[in-house]
Amino acid sequence: MNEKLPDSPDWTRREFLAGTSAALVVAAAAAGTLEAQTPGAAPAIAVDPAVPHSTIRLTVNGVARDVEVEDRWTLAELLRDRLGLTGTKIGCDRGECGACTVLVDDQPVYSCSNLAVWMDGRRVTTVEGLSNGGPLTPLQQAFVAHDAAQCGFCTSGQLMSATALLKRNPRPSAADVKAALAGNLCRCGNYNRYVDSVVAAGGGVRSSVGGDQ
Ligand code: FES
Ligand code: FES
Repeated sequence: MNEKLPDSPDWTRREFLAGTSAALVVAAAAAGTLEAQTPGAAPAIAVDPAVPHSTIRLTVNGVARDVEVEDRWTLAELLRDRLGLTGTKIGCDRGECGACTVLVDDQPVYSCSNLAVWMDGRRVTTVEGLSNGGPLTPLQQAFVAHDAAQCGFCTSGQLMSATALLKRNPRPSAADVKAALAGNLCRCGNYNRYVDSVVAAGGGVRSSVGGDQ
């Protein structure tokens, strides 16, 4: 497909989509950098004193924090609504899609399915913490280079599961990557590019675009 977009005579559809996907990843990383540098920003929501609540001590993206949380809050709610780290997405909100994946003590978990109070004493890493104010990680760069994100909604979860994989297996095979990302659904169906990206970030080379899903 090579048709011109109606209002953009100098752009083909393919060029537009490629640029949009790359921009999504870069924009997400840039937004994450800003948020990671402002951990003291006012919380979007406050604790309701009328409901059970607790103060927990945890590390978020390398910063130790004491945070008051309602005992009913999920980790996703703590990150997004209390701490403003909206790079973590909520898709299904019931442990099925993986969009909300973050690392807890380097292990990928669904943040929608873990309570915030369980994070007391734990180390949490979100997508904002990958570059943490520095350059994009090799994995993030590989996502850009392979045009991994389409709509981008599942991308932060894919990044976190892949980051956990690369920590325990720095040179994964395509089969390793598929197994590690099995809990991360992509409604855009861009699975081959995600697999290619992770294999490439590990130093391998794979290009299955247009092949098996
Ligand atoms: S939003 Fe957590 S698994 Fe879907
Ligand atoms: S890129 Fe759209 S859901 Fe995965």
